[in-house]
Parts: sequence; C-alpha cells; structure tokens
Amino acid sequence: MVLEILAVVLSYLIGSISFSIVIAKLVKGIDIRQHGSGNAGATNTLRVLGRGPGLMVFVLDIGKGIGAVLIGHVASDNGWVPVLCGLAAIIGHNWPIYFRFKGGKGIATTVGVIATLAFWPALCAGIVAIISIAITRYVSLGSLLFALLTPIFIVVFQYSLPLFAGALIITLFAFLRHRSNIGKLLQGTENKLGVKKGA
Ligand code: G3P
Repeated sequence: MVLEILAVVLSYLIGSISFSIVIAKLVKGIDIRQHGSGNAGATNTLRVLGRGPGLMVFVLDIGKGIGAVLIGHVASDNGWVPVLCGLAAIIGHNWPIYFRFKGGKGIATTVGVIATLAFWPALCAGIVAIISIAITRYVSLGSLLFALLTPIFIVVFQYSLPLFAGALIITLFAFLRHRSNIGKLLQGTENKLGVKKGA
C-alpha cells in the first residue's frame, strides 16, 4: 500500500514539472502564463515561442503521462494504480506544486496517459482530434473531442472498469480546464492555430 501511495505522489510531482514554464523561461526569459492565451501548455508555447519549443513541450508533457502510468505498473499489479498515477500526473500538470498551482489544461499529458493505458482508444480519438484541428485550426476543439471520445472508445474496445472510470474523470478535468475555450468557441472568438500572439 505504501508503494502504491508513493507511486501516486511521485506521479503528481513529475506531472507538476511544467515544461512550458521552464522552456519559456529558458528560451526567452518570460512567464508563458502572461503571454498568448495565458495557458502553461504546448499550444500556447507554439503560439508564443514557435514550433521548436512548442513541439518540445508537447513531447515532454506526453512523456510525463507515459512515465506516470509506467510507474504505476511497476508499483503494483492492481489495475487501479496506473490509472491513479496517470490522474495524478494530469492533476500535477494542471495544478503544479512548483508553480503556485497555476498550470496548464492537461491535454498533452492526457495523451501520454491514455496512449499508455489504452492504446487503441487513444489512437482512434487522436485521429478524430487531429482531423478536427486540421479542418478548423482550433486546438481546443480537438483537445475536447479527444477527451470526450476516449471513454467512448474505451467502452467500444472493452477495456477494464478502472480505465473507463479514469477516462471519465480525465474528460471532466479537460472540460473544466477548457471552460474559457468553450465560451470562445461558442462566440467564434477562439484562437486559431497559426495566428501568432506576441511575447
Ligand atoms: O491543450 C490546450 C489547448 O486545448 C488549448 O490551449 O492555449 O489555446 O488555450 P490554448
């Protein structure tokens, strides 16, 4: 039980490493949370700092999710533990202990978590998300679609109850963190990919 708890805590601490904040500080000496959309995530890093830093943050944030789930698998045979570790990493990304609990929206980390826990649902939801982003240029719409479709595909592919329950909570987190994006999407004022905001 102690090992399981340590794994969840470690996952939260890893998730709390906000690569967008760190890389924006290193590359340009800025707090990414005061530029662009104000979000500490890969999309806003791309928007404010360009493709290289944006891609780097995306890959590293996905890595946090993968790492947390793997830690859960190593720590326990109980199917709930990797799910809880993945959730902890996303919570860390959204509310990071090292950055006054002001983090991102958790989608790249969610991609890493879901792809490791449930590859085929992640792939199917990811394809729909990528197509929607390519067509509309709204990353937030693709993020929300990914979050919404994941639990549905988990049912379709008949994954376990812990994975379905975890995916539902992840979907809830994603919609909570995208409240402002949802408002802007409805009003037609959401930021489109490729429209750069100055740092
Ligand atoms: O994953 C975050 C993305 O869905 C939205 O980011 O910066 O446009 O609010 P942003």
